[in-house]
Amino acid sequence: MDNIVIFGAPGSGKGTYSAALVKEFGYNHISTGDVLRAEIKAGTKLGKIVKGYIDQGQLIPDEHMIDILAGVYDSMLDGPGVIFDGFPRTIVQAKALKDMLQERGEKITITINLNVSEDVLMERLLRRAKIEGRADDNEETIKKRFKVYYNQTYPLIEWFKNEGVLSEFTFKGDTNLIIKEIIEKVASL
Ligand code: AP5
Ligand code: MG
Repeated sequence: MDNIVIFGAPGSGKGTYSAALVKEFGYNHISTGDVLRAEIKAGTKLGKIVKGYIDQGQLIPDEHMIDILAGVYDSMLDGPGVIFDGFPRTIVQAKALKDMLQERGEKITITINLNVSEDVLMERLLRRAKIEGRADDNEETIKKRFKVYYNQTYPLIEWFKNEGVLSEFTFKGDTNLIIKEIIEKVASL
């Protein structure tokens, strides 16, 4: 089974390219952001805990995230593979993912890192704000999310490189091209 991690700054295309990979390869998709927003919408106890963090552009504490992730992953074990979108976001989460997979006889197949310039990211997210109205898509919170990304998630590039699973993709203005590059890479695994 393929275990694919897709990571990058807010607005870098994790959700967009995950959808392309799901369509191409029939993978299951875990977006921790989507899982958390669904909890908020349903008004669950967890949803109430996480809302404040999301609205402030901060990460939810690792221990909550790791439990959620293992539960969702175990419901997807009979498919061709799983895409992790938005997890891990810290070194602690990366280690927890490695352990969780190991316990199930699995490992990370590849990590896809998305590089996009900050002005393009801001432009995308402000455009999306008008369409989808996500609570964290406003200029002030987006800037906080960028900061959190560089402080807590960016170090994963080095970590995954050391694990021998890093693959980097840079957006150069052509969406179809980057999707094609990612699909070709995954097809070659
Ligand atoms: P999450 O939902 O993961 O948000 P994010 O990381 O900020 O990323 P986005 O979903 O905003 O962007 P994306 O990279 O998916 O890009 P998209 O494809 O949508 O997390 C939200 C919050 O939840 C976090 O801040 C945190 O509080 C919490 N959380 C989640 N996971 C957590 C974890 N593991 N630990 C702790 N806390 C966690 O693209 C963006 C837009 O651009 C779209 O509208 C798209 O259509 C458009 N677009 C235009 N052109 C392109 C193009 N060429 N490529 C891609 N997208 C394009
Ligand atoms: Mg997303």
